Amino acid sequence: MLVGIIGGTGFFEPAADAEGRRETVQTPHGPVQVQVGKLGEADIAFLCRHGPAADIPPHAINYQANIEALALLGCRNVIATNAVGSLLEDLPPGSLATPAQFIDFTRSRPHTLFDRSCDKIVHVDMTEPYCPRLRELLVSEAGRLGMPCRDGLTYVCTEGPRFETPAEIRMFAALGGHLVGMTGVPEVVFACEAGLCYASVCVVTNFAAGISRQRLTVDEVHQVMDKMRPRLWELLAATVNAIAADPAWQE
Ligand code: HPA
Repeated sequence: MLVGIIGGTGFFEPAADAEGRRETVQTPHGPVQVQVGKLGEADIAFLCRHGPAADIPPHAINYQANIEALALLGCRNVIATNAVGSLLEDLPPGSLATPAQFIDFTRSRPHTLFDRSCDKIVHVDMTEPYCPRLRELLVSEAGRLGMPCRDGLTYVCTEGPRFETPAEIRMFAALGGHLVGMTGVPEVVFACEAGLCYASVCVVTNFAAGISRQRLTVDEVHQVMDKMRPRLWELLAATVNAIAADPAWQE
């Protein structure tokens, strides 16, 4: 069974040791380049969220096509990586977290996969937008590898591409947000609409604006991601191999 991996910032290359072939998948919302291959014993379909050339900004990503491509390839489980700012003083740069909830502050993105006239109106349930079973597996594999991954947090998605003001971050914190990023939504929504079991591993690259006294730069985001990438691949490999090895995931 193919497991989908959506690589975010800093994951512009497929896994160094993942063998595979590049494919262009034609979807109702456009073509997507995917690498289909092996990560250890597991079959994976990997795509770069920001495109193969890493040049698509968060508000211009074709989230619909990306999710449709993985669904069309037959993926039922999808793990995404996301760089985030932390609103929590005890969750410093270099930490991992897997959100359980999101708050949507995007404003110019498609809202649904069902945006064409279709024979039914769809209202997808969002009680548990991130698959609890996949989150649990990620947390347990991360623990086994000695890299704690905090579960149960709330991800706030902004439109970007600018960073937030400290006032916005104070508002997000007051609303119950713990992590802030620009790419988690609508990807998770479309994954739910496509019936996929989807979870995100968030890498904290910085304290959010105003929590950190320093100005935020994209360089610091990339520096932390570059440092974390090898270990994150270990976690992804362990998780997809646990899925591949367990008959309960094949049902
Ligand atoms: N804000 C929004 N997106 C981000 C951040 C941030 O602080 N860090 C990494 N992605």
